Amino acid sequence: MWMKNKRFQRLGGGILERFGLRLWSRLQFSALGGRKDPEIVAVLRQIYHERRSLLSAFEQYLVYAAARAQRKRPGAMAEVGVYRGASARLICEAKGQKPLHLFDTFTGLPESTAEDRAIHRAGQYESSLESVQAYLAGYQNVHFHPGRFPESAAAVPEDSYCFVHFDVDLYASTLACLQYFYPKMVPGGIMLSHDYGLLAGVQQAFDEFFADKPEGVIEQPTTQCMVVKL
Ligand SMILES: C[S@@+](CC[C@H](N)C(=O)[O-])C[C@H]1O[C@@H](n2cnc3c(N)ncnc32)[C@H](O)[C@@H]1O
Repeated sequence: MWMKNKRFQRLGGGILERFGLRLWSRLQFSALGGRKDPEIVAVLRQIYHERRSLLSAFEQYLVYAAARAQRKRPGAMAEVGVYRGASARLICEAKGQKPLHLFDTFTGLPESTAEDRAIHRAGQYESSLESVQAYLAGYQNVHFHPGRFPESAAAVPEDSYCFVHFDVDLYASTLACLQYFYPKMVPGGIMLSHDYGLLAGVQQAFDEFFADKPEGVIEQPTTQCMVVKL
């Protein structure tokens, strides 16, 4: 499992990761350009550059396409792990009138645990709530919940979701997302996560949580994974 190699994981968020991601995304954007709606590809490119997205072009496309597919199902949408709002904007582009709940500390990652193998540091990916609010100001029905998840969700009245996106990098945060959202997903609802194939803590949280559930974890050819609620 070369992706679990600690030296590779240490690139998380660093200059080498950005350089590699940029090169990889450039190739992916060329591939998407020949096959997908050029207007959507242009929006993805814009978001990628404006907000320094940490998702590759294929990963961005999957967030957009999954949210778009789910907008005809009942339930709200949510994202945990907003950072500068790149993937949140993709969901905004796809969601229509649906409510979107956005959760982030906006002060960066919480402390990691042993399961995360010391890849990240606390405070990494600090961002600005005001900047993300301004970036998404043109979209209706977007709700911000700053603070540490799941405590930040305590007053959120929503009890059914059709699409949720997790991009939280850590074992404990990923487990908290699954524990909170799984019972609230409508049948056919999609939980999509970044970094399942890259970060050991994220993968461990999914594998442990779904070990006794009827749903399977669908690993994607990107770093992502997806679960469809039965
Ligand atoms: C890699 S960044 C997200 C990248 C973003 N999705 C994008 O499109 O660029 C990870 C984010 O998860 C947030 N995060 C991780 N654990 C969290 C928790 N328990 N509560 C709130 N935010 C959390 C961090 O603050 C950070 O902004």
